[in-house]
Amino acid sequence: MNDNPSMHERRTGARYHFDRHTPQYREQFATITREMHEKCPVAWSDTYGGHWVAASSEAVFELARCPHVSNDHDIHGERRGYKGITIPTAQRARYRGGMLEMDDPEHRLYRDVLNPYLSPAAVKRWEPFIADITRASLNENIETGSIDFVDDLANIVPAVLTLAMLGIPLKRWSLYSEPTHASAYTPEDSPDAARVAEMHQQMGADLFASMQEIRANPRPGLINALIGMRIDGEPAPEHELLGQLGLVLGGGFDTTTALTAHALEWLSQNPDARQRLSAERDTLLAPATEEFLRFYTPAPGDGRTISADTTLAGTDFREGERLWISWAMANRDPAVFEDPDTVVLDRKGNRHFSFGLGVHRCIGSNVARTVFKAMITAVLDRMPDYVCDPAGTVHYDTIGVIQGMRHLPATFTSGPRIGPGLDETLERLQRICDEQGLARPITERRESADITY
Ligand code: HEM
Repeated sequence: MNDNPSMHERRTGARYHFDRHTPQYREQFATITREMHEKCPVAWSDTYGGHWVAASSEAVFELARCPHVSNDHDIHGERRGYKGITIPTAQRARYRGGMLEMDDPEHRLYRDVLNPYLSPAAVKRWEPFIADITRASLNENIETGSIDFVDDLANIVPAVLTLAMLGIPLKRWSLYSEPTHASAYTPEDSPDAARVAEMHQQMGADLFASMQEIRANPRPGLINALIGMRIDGEPAPEHELLGQLGLVLGGGFDTTTALTAHALEWLSQNPDARQRLSAERDTLLAPATEEFLRFYTPAPGDGRTISADTTLAGTDFREGERLWISWAMANRDPAVFEDPDTVVLDRKGNRHFSFGLGVHRCIGSNVARTVFKAMITAVLDRMPDYVCDPAGTVHYDTIGVIQGMRHLPATFTSGPRIGPGLDETLERLQRICDEQGLARPITERRESADITY
């Protein structure tokens, strides 16, 4: 692309050095966000090959829904060479990231397959199952008076549920959870990157083997549904199926973990609010969930490519230019949120964009909310006086990909176990999944999971 004068003019109007992959961006997030809202709600940054950054709620709203903005990741140079949703382009990517890196109408074909598994009614059926994994996870620590909320709770429940929905044996949860979690906080130039890549390969091999197993002996779940989908009468390409499964795993695990850890940390720092949340959960838990989503925005943003010259939000965009859409910064826009840098548990009319918007809006939002609420209420009930240990708390160094945590240790007054521990529960729940066909779509099974035997 030539840097012709008009391009230069367009970009110098609103230039901002934006580098979300640095620890400084995490530390100064509120200040940078305020500055961009005031001076340049849409700015050009020269970082990572140059890209636009949308920071205001209005600009994000317009751009995320604009038909001239593309998600396509053309890995093999077969179309227009667009680079998908990652800025800078992911070196590790061998497949495009499922439907999130497709445009309509192709995207819609894949999304329609997942809908009957992830709709509100479909997710509701899993509530007893989710409560039971949560109970069993807390059992492992309840007698000791100490827990790491990331390792011992928030990493486990989303992973086990996602595997159940996919149709993969529940006991393999850590084979999937560890690489997904680690790759969110391990940059590609880290000394640990090779180990993470190795774990990723093992996960990929297991996923591939699971697909072959399910092809040979079908069992219900998202894998079975994707294998069965047809495009113009033909099965979907194998690499697109693997990309789509990788997207469900990546979308389903670390985001919910990150949200839960941050909420638990905040509630430890604000014990009065925690007591109120516990006492008034029937009315307060729903708005508090939205407020934690807004304030912590676990998936802070996504990349796009401009697919046709267009003027939006007062800016002229040209075909081929890259764009970063910041859900996290839009969520702090004072034009939409009063007192945006404060957590207000009962905030009204909370128009946050933490699940994105437009055709790619998070299809797992019902899962995320249900799992989050189950974990928070179980902790409020069984560890009501927990105190997190700031010295042992480890946030991700950067919030470029996920605003997450590696560790959140806490102590509390110990209590009794309720029922069996995690391993025994996973075995029982596996049997129940298989016997009741829990992973079938809502069109085939409407009843809630019966976990009473
Ligand atoms: C707190 C938890 C979660 C957050 C904050 C979150 C956030 C998001 C965001 C912002 C998007 C839109 C991305 C874009 O437009 O570029 C998205 C899409 C997506 N999410 Fe989530 N997500 C969460 C949980 C989940 C869960 C639990 C699942 C799976 C069960 C999931 C699966 C997906 C998928 C498959 C997409 C792509 C949708 C499409 O392209 O049509 N997410 N998510």
